[in-house]
Amino acid sequence: MKHICVIGSGHVGLVTGACLAELGNIVICMDDDAARIDNLGKGIIPFYEPDLEAIVHRNMGERLSFTTDIEMAIKPSEIVFVCVGTPQKASGEADLTSIEAVAQRIAKAMNNYKVIVEKSTVPVKTGEWVRRTIKLNGPDNSRFDVVSNPEFLREGKAVYDFMHPDRIVIGAESEKAANIMKELYQPLKAPVLVTNIETAELIKHASNAFLALKVSYINAVANVCEKAGADVVKVAEGMGYDKRIGRQFLDAGVGYGGYCFPKDLAAFIKIAEELGYDFELLRAVRKINDSQQAQIVTKAKGMLWNLSGKTIGILGLSFKPNTDDIREAPSIYVIRQLQQEGAKIKAYDPRAMGNARVALTDVEYCPDPYEVARDSDALIIITEWDEFGTLDLAKVRRLMRQPVILDGRNMFDPAEMERLGFVYRGVGR
Ligand code: UDX
Repeated sequence: MKHICVIGSGHVGLVTGACLAELGNIVICMDDDAARIDNLGKGIIPFYEPDLEAIVHRNMGERLSFTTDIEMAIKPSEIVFVCVGTPQKASGEADLTSIEAVAQRIAKAMNNYKVIVEKSTVPVKTGEWVRRTIKLNGPDNSRFDVVSNPEFLREGKAVYDFMHPDRIVIGAESEKAANIMKELYQPLKAPVLVTNIETAELIKHASNAFLALKVSYINAVANVCEKAGADVVKVAEGMGYDKRIGRQFLDAGVGYGGYCFPKDLAAFIKIAEELGYDFELLRAVRKINDSQQAQIVTKAKGMLWNLSGKTIGILGLSFKPNTDDIREAPSIYVIRQLQQEGAKIKAYDPRAMGNARVALTDVEYCPDPYEVARDSDALIIITEWDEFGTLDLAKVRRLMRQPVILDGRNMFDPAEMERLGFVYRGVGR
């Protein structure tokens, strides 16, 4: 059992804190957002993440508490997790001002040996800056080590990913700190890789960029498939059997989105540039992703002719299923483009409509997919929520003004859709 505090109670911080409490540790989650902390104290979770609420409720009180008082969080803690945001600047690089500010505040609260863990995704060399900042601002006798311990949590599966990691990466500058972190994660029985801090920082960026590359690769293949009369779903299946390739992250579609991939990719390209390397492979990954989103609008035009005055129904707004997150979601770009062409937009998402209402005005939000279908000239599937796979398609067809479906996630079988009387197009088939 260890005493831990987590600075930043966003997606990563809250999942990390709650799961570490579930493993038997005493955890204090800290955030400057008083309303958020107040709600968390009442057991109200600020975003949708499966299983998180149950874990928070189970551990609240004795093992898990919430505060806005950073000193109160840090002083009793042996391990301090830094989970504050590292948003993207206009130049693409990560904005690390929050990390620096937190390092200064940690320095002020230093009272005994602590392991300061960077969990947020940060550019290589950030650990070194954190160490210098704490040394500069803390008492002369400050005893601490900095560790890089990147998270690999998928939104929508974050609790599962925390509890069942493929690997734990610990970038440490001392054996003492590495051992403390190994003990902490020992209950998870996952492979542990101990490296220096720079290597751990790079593992995170290299992993996310590789996954984005897989998505863009299959999307590029999908474009060739469309021209060649091949089916990208089968191509992915055929490739996926090869253990060296693997089937995961080979689903062609409208492209990747979310808070991590676009931001981390931009940051990685920028870091490489600063280090004197032009990572043109990753620039191509980004370009392909942008064109996948644009392509949906071109295809809609191809199926409906003029979009002006047409009603287009959007199924799915979150950047992927099982989350209410719409940050960098392809839906936002696609809807704005369709609106610019003069289309009227109706939309439904099982979880993300609250967030969408703030970002996208002039959209008719509907209570269910059938209401979206009613009198629509086309339906566009942007997010592959399970419930769309079980729709009564005959009913959908009856409700639509024109039976046009543009399936941005290849959820349906093209032959079956034709049999049902739809004019149907997927991606790469
Ligand atoms: C990602 C990483 O997976 C996780 O390890 C991390 O550290 C945070 O970033 P997340 O952003 O939650 O997690 O989403 P993920 O499940 O990885 O999907 C990313 C995007 O790629 C989504 O928009 C998804 O729709 C898209 N995607 C994924 C595809 O288009 N095709 C695929 O085959 C897989």
